[in-house]
Amino acid sequence: MKRIVCLGGGPAGLYSAILFKKALPHARVEVYERNRPDDTFGWGVVFSDKTMAGFRDADPDSHDAIVGSFHHWDDIDVHFKGRLIRSGGHGFCGIARKRLLNIFQERAAALGVGQTFQHEVGAAEQFADADLIVAADGVNSLQRTRHAEIFKPNIDVRKCRFIWLGTEQKFPAFTFAFEKTEHGWFQIHAYQFSAGLSTVIVETREETWKAHGLDRFSPDESIAFCEALFGQYLGGHRLMSNARHLRGSAWLNFNRVLCERWHHGNLVLIGDAAHTAHFGIGSGTKLAMEDAMSLVSNVARAEDVGAGLERYRAERNLEALKLQSAARNRMEWFENVARYTHLEPEQFAYSLLTASQRIGHANLRLRDPKYVAGVERDLARRNGIEEARPPMFLPLRLGDLELVNRVVVSPMAQYSAEAGMPADWHLMHYGARAVGGAGLVVTEMTCVAADARITPGCTGLWNEAQRDGWKRIVEFVHGHSPAKIALQLGHAGRKGSTQLGWQEMDRPLPAGNWPLLSASALAYLPGVSQTPQAMDAGDFALVTAQFVRAAELGAAAGFDLLELHMAHGYLLASFLSPLTNLRRDAYGGPIANRLKFPLEVIGAVRAVWPEGKPVSVRISASDWAPGGLDEADLIAMARAFKEAGVALISVSSGQTVPDQRPVYGRMWQTPFADLIRNLVDVPTMAVGNIFEADHVNTIVGAGRADLCAIARPHLSDAAWTLHAAAGERYAAQWWPKPYLPGKAQLEHQVERAALLQGAV
Ligand SMILES: Cc1cc2nc3c(=O)[nH]c(=O)nc-3n(C[C@H](O)[C@H](O)[C@H](O)COP(=O)(O)OP(=O)(O)OC[C@H]3O[C@@H](n4cnc5c(N)ncnc54)[C@H](O)[C@@H]3O)c2cc1C
Ligand SMILES: Cc1cc2nc3c(=O)[nH]c(=O)nc-3n(C[C@H](O)[C@H](O)[C@H](O)COP(=O)(O)O)c2cc1C
Repeated sequence: MKRIVCLGGGPAGLYSAILFKKALPHARVEVYERNRPDDTFGWGVVFSDKTMAGFRDADPDSHDAIVGSFHHWDDIDVHFKGRLIRSGGHGFCGIARKRLLNIFQERAAALGVGQTFQHEVGAAEQFADADLIVAADGVNSLQRTRHAEIFKPNIDVRKCRFIWLGTEQKFPAFTFAFEKTEHGWFQIHAYQFSAGLSTVIVETREETWKAHGLDRFSPDESIAFCEALFGQYLGGHRLMSNARHLRGSAWLNFNRVLCERWHHGNLVLIGDAAHTAHFGIGSGTKLAMEDAMSLVSNVARAEDVGAGLERYRAERNLEALKLQSAARNRMEWFENVARYTHLEPEQFAYSLLTASQRIGHANLRLRDPKYVAGVERDLARRNGIEEARPPMFLPLRLGDLELVNRVVVSPMAQYSAEAGMPADWHLMHYGARAVGGAGLVVTEMTCVAADARITPGCTGLWNEAQRDGWKRIVEFVHGHSPAKIALQLGHAGRKGSTQLGWQEMDRPLPAGNWPLLSASALAYLPGVSQTPQAMDAGDFALVTAQFVRAAELGAAAGFDLLELHMAHGYLLASFLSPLTNLRRDAYGGPIANRLKFPLEVIGAVRAVWPEGKPVSVRISASDWAPGGLDEADLIAMARAFKEAGVALISVSSGQTVPDQRPVYGRMWQTPFADLIRNLVDVPTMAVGNIFEADHVNTIVGAGRADLCAIARPHLSDAAWTLHAAAGERYAAQWWPKPYLPGKAQLEHQVERAALLQGAV
């Protein structure tokens, strides 16, 4: 390559120019920047200690200069409702954005990179003879916009407004502070980045910002407003803006940018032009610089530049998506801060610290054991117990039901029944999991009638023999463990009469099918599944009576909790989702109507279910398909269930329609449980890829859910909780007496492993 042109003199453009020049000393490398060298928006940027190691390897000179200009700190302070919560061990460094750019400018100059300032670049075609054009022109990238049909950007304008200010106040830690006005909450993200200066980003919801008239305020008036609101944290210092020379409002919306493609011919997007990460996790500059490293290593010496650009995209896309996902969780936490302000300061701060779902209880404990010990003491106190313990081992009361811990064996169909009869397999399966330490074991979806089954192997509860089969299991659980056992009742609806889970799931039986019912006459797999009959008045009465009878039998069997299955596209769920409920009568249309039949069933069942014993429902919080349930539906559903006396909402998602497009990941459905619990104030159970003790501790500790249901891990390890307790060194964990020697050995092994790790 002979000529490389970088459009934009921010971190992405300058750092790639430096690295290209180092890799290709004989090439002509140029940077074009519209501003002057010392103009810059914003004040400081922050890196984590970990990030810096990579930069040392890429360019020791600029790394050393950056480190020499760092302001370093370890603590995060959260000010909320007059309290200060401090946690340590976070290891951050701050640097002035201007200083960072000056370091890069000097380094680039020393290497012989050409730098042209005050040069507004229009069409990139003017650099026709360049071998590579690096579009590092930031979040509003002109080059990306000009070729939007190629890059296919997806730009999400987020719900908050923010203003990036400076101050001479020296914050002792990375500081978050929250203040409420008559129109809503404002927060600051503040940190010191040089000997005498700190950054203060003030952020609030768009509607709060507008209600205060801030959209009409001049920058000076905005600053005066922020000073008045956050004065108590500023130690008498003023706030300052350096954005006056920039166009537009001083208050910005964060734009989340994703692009389908990153390169077009020899033009390549990098940094904010390609993707953005919310400043809540402070990683935009890191992303931009790491893009530069990857671009140069894949392209500088590539025989085929196009293939090199594609390698760069593949390498960085994954990393960017991971960071964007963590940043999105944190960003949404800040957007919805009002949801969490009912929490006490300790839990509020813990919820903030763990909001990205990347840092959990164990990591915080590693960073600051004293802080985590305080969190555990506070949680214990609020749960009315003396001894602090990891959050997963806190008891929970729901009505008259007391659970010894927060781990639940999630309902899992065993497809092992004949004529709906729970038999030896079920006794072994549920019994082993109850003695395995979970606080609650939930049965598989147990069907209220023979033709309500999903498959011929599903358990049922419509006759006395089945009642007695279940009673044997319930009595085993109660007699041999402190666990409680819940009955999940359901009706398969249009997903019924299908093959066993390990055969062709969701496909009709080859023979012996039974007729199906649903909210509307829509087949699950068009052209494959049976078309159900849309329920009429007679069906409503029949199905309600079936649920009532099953609940009576369940009560007689001694179950502790009754869960109604209203998720995954089965009968009751088919009423809730607008994708499966196309009815034009009182049971279809707006969510209030779609809720009518599920609420009738809850009412009828509640009337026969023992009073002190709780009823829960399992829902699909999202259909993951266009036109499906939205957030307003979800909130309406949760409110209606709470009103109907439901004690717990188990929050799953999807499986409503076959063409769903869920976004999987660790703890991926937990944000829905969090939304319902903290907005609607009803206990929730989270589920979905929760597979480590640390996940449970963090979810419960942060108040994102009250219980965690764990499904597949319980298939490979019936004693999941016993193992987790040993790993967490929770010695007070109950074990079955015959297994106590196993407890002693396991705890010994855990100690030994910890000692060895410490020695390494
Ligand atoms: C409030 C706020 C706080 C942030 N805090 C942090 C933080 O703490 N840590 C962190 O790592 N990141 C932070 N970021 C993000 C960070 O600023 C960006 O992610 C980072 O600057 C991206 O670098 P870039 O080079 O891609 O884009 P930019 O830094 O935006 O640089 C693009 C450059 O291109 C120039 N340009 C644009 N168009 C043209 C044109 N047509 N002709 C010539 N020049 C042009 C611009 O003037 C600019 O200098 C924050 C961002 C915001 C908004
Ligand atoms: C084999 C199997 C059977 C399942 N059967 C049911 C069921 O009967 N009722 C139900 O509500 N969910 C059922 N599920 C869903 C799980 O309860 C759980 O929501 C899902 O597996 C996600 O949790 P996980 O990531 O911990 O596995 C089943 C899951 C599996 C793997």
